[in-house]
Amino acid sequence: MRQLVYISSVRKPAEVDPAVILAQSRRNNARARVTGLLFFDGKRFLQALEGDDATVDATFARIQADGRHHALVVLSNRSIEQREFGEWAMAYQAPGEDGGDPLERIGRLTANADPAVRATFAGFAKVRRAA
Ligand SMILES: Cc1cc2nc3c(=O)[nH]c(=O)nc-3n(C[C@H](O)[C@H](O)[C@H](O)COP(=O)(O)O)c2cc1C
Repeated sequence: MRQLVYISSVRKPAEVDPAVILAQSRRNNARARVTGLLFFDGKRFLQALEGDDATVDATFARIQADGRHHALVVLSNRSIEQREFGEWAMAYQAPGEDGGDPLERIGRLTANADPAVRATFAGFAKVRRAA
């Protein structure tokens, strides 16, 4: 099983509806048994994807070709023994939405993740809060 984490930048913020990305991801990921976390702050995406190797490859190939974002950088790509993000498909958070503090919410969603992955998400949410 594989876990891949990448960061990217939204191309045209006004033309990207996170709800559409979320709906597509939920549907496809549930079918493909891909789990993970998508964090979007209006400018940048940070996403973890996990599942069978071939499935993660195929999903990431589609995501990479998506014109809604660019400048993708893979932060980690490793083999895992078991899922770290549980069975749900995807979560999305823009600061100020969902009522909660992004940092606190990210902390909860990455509770079972590897410390390095957890720190990556926490750092991202923290920078966003300070910005
Ligand atoms: C930042 C970002 C994250 C995405 N994450 C996923 C994902 O986790 N799973 C997925 O199937 N599609 C994801 N997509 C959408 C894919 O790029 C692609 O549009 C979609 O998979 C096409 O699915 P469809 O043929 O069912 O419409 C993401 C797109 C963006 C811009």
